[in-house]
Amino acid sequence: MSSSRRVAVVTGANKGIGYAIVRGLCKQFDGDVILTARNEGNGQEAIKKLNGEGLKPMFHQLDLDDVGSIDRIKDFLQKTYTGIDILVNNAGIAFKMAATEPFSQQAEITVATNFWGTLNVCKGLFPLLKPHARVVNVSSMASQYAAKKCSDEMKSRFIAPDLDQAKVEQLMTEFVNSAKDGSYEKKGWCQSAYGCSKIGVTLLSFAQQKEFDKDSRADIIVNACCPGYVDTDMSSHKGTKTIDQGADTPLYLALLPPNTTSPKGNFVSDRKIQTWP
Ligand SMILES: NC(=O)c1ccc[n+]([C@@H]2O[C@H](COP(=O)([O-])OP(=O)(O)OC[C@H]3O[C@@H](n4cnc5c(N)ncnc54)[C@H](OP(=O)(O)O)[C@@H]3O)[C@@H](O)[C@H]2O)c1
Repeated sequence: MSSSRRVAVVTGANKGIGYAIVRGLCKQFDGDVILTARNEGNGQEAIKKLNGEGLKPMFHQLDLDDVGSIDRIKDFLQKTYTGIDILVNNAGIAFKMAATEPFSQQAEITVATNFWGTLNVCKGLFPLLKPHARVVNVSSMASQYAAKKCSDEMKSRFIAPDLDQAKVEQLMTEFVNSAKDGSYEKKGWCQSAYGCSKIGVTLLSFAQQKEFDKDSRADIIVNACCPGYVDTDMSSHKGTKTIDQGADTPLYLALLPPNTTSPKGNFVSDRKIQTWP
């Protein structure tokens, strides 16, 4: 029988910012917290570490790049709970500056996980969101920097009033195709696989809020955010914020009280709404 207990799900939470988001939710959220990771062993290790602090998150495997894995967590959540209260799409990848893979490959792989993987998790789990649910898509200021470097024509597509999810998907498809045939700069994109993938995450969040505004479930809010420059494997530990400081804005957005009017469908950094792009 499904439990009416509240539940929060965090992706990519075996380490880094996602781990700290789980830690924060365990302390601040009245409900079950599900730490997900693509690698079961790494996820269980993280659970053990948090248990050592007296915290009791649960584990479920979730790989953004594997639709079977998304189906399995969906099935588990559907059987176990009456719906999802918080979804934090935190998992992401970035090639290192010194990476030798060609740009086309970096673009395809980065967009596959950061954009398409995140989108597939949303497609799978959004039907389970309860009224008043909060969704946080961890993007990056890199999305803003990259967007500013794109052509004026491209920028106008990023701020088009009729931007919807299909148009965001089209943009990401065009970016990867143009990275593959070498025409990306001519088409108005900039040379940042990570930045452009996060343009997709930020724009997706804007488009998703428009859909939630029309949804019969009341008061579902989605925001994109930047955690700041954080000391994690992704930043090669050069980031200036601790993981708990990086988790602050995602946690603030995940815990927005019922019937919040702002931030809602925004891009947020340091708890403040950012102009776009
Ligand atoms: N660190 C920063 O300064 C910074 C700045 C701006 C935005 N961000 C964003 O913040 C988020 C967290 O980054 P982080 O710095 O904490 O990075 P991190 O330490 O490298 O952690 C990334 C997490 O995402 C997971 N992941 C990657 N691909 C996945 C997939 N296909 N399915 C499921 N999980 C996957 C990783 O799992 P594995 O351990 O298995 O690889 C890991 O748990 C990312 O979205 C990142 O883009 C970070």
